[in-house]
Order: sequence, then structure tokens, then C-alpha cells
Amino acid sequence: MYACICHKITEKELEETVQATKGNLNDALRKLNLGQSCGVCLMDALEKVGMQMASKDSNIAKKN
Ligand code: FES
Repeated sequence: MYACICHKITEKELEETVQATKGNLNDALRKLNLGQSCGVCLMDALEKVGMQMASKDSNIAKKN
């Protein structure tokens, strides 16, 4: 599924890029150009990535 239709960026690409930037969302968005055309995708992408990061933090806290 696409995270950004204008730039043909998949959700998987977004997730991998966020991981590659060690969770730096600004760097990931800049690298992909996500949200740089119509901008419709931006809020959904931020929400999705934020939820994934919160989930990972929660899992880490449970292990500790
Ligand atoms: S859908 Fe991402 S910039 Fe248009």
C-alpha cells in the first residue's frame, strides 16, 4: 500500500527509511520527498510512524 501516491512511496519504504535514519522522522521524510507535492499523505504518514514508534517503545518497556 502506498504511503505517498504522488511519489509512489510504499508504507514499507517509509518504515525502512525511518529505521535507516534511526527514527529521525524529519530526515526520513526529506530523504523520500514524502509530502512534498500535494501533502495529503503527510498527516497519515506521521500518525502511522508515530504509532509504530510508540508500539516499539512500549514493547521495550515491557521487556525491561
Ligand atoms: S500523496 Fe504524498 S505528496 Fe501527494
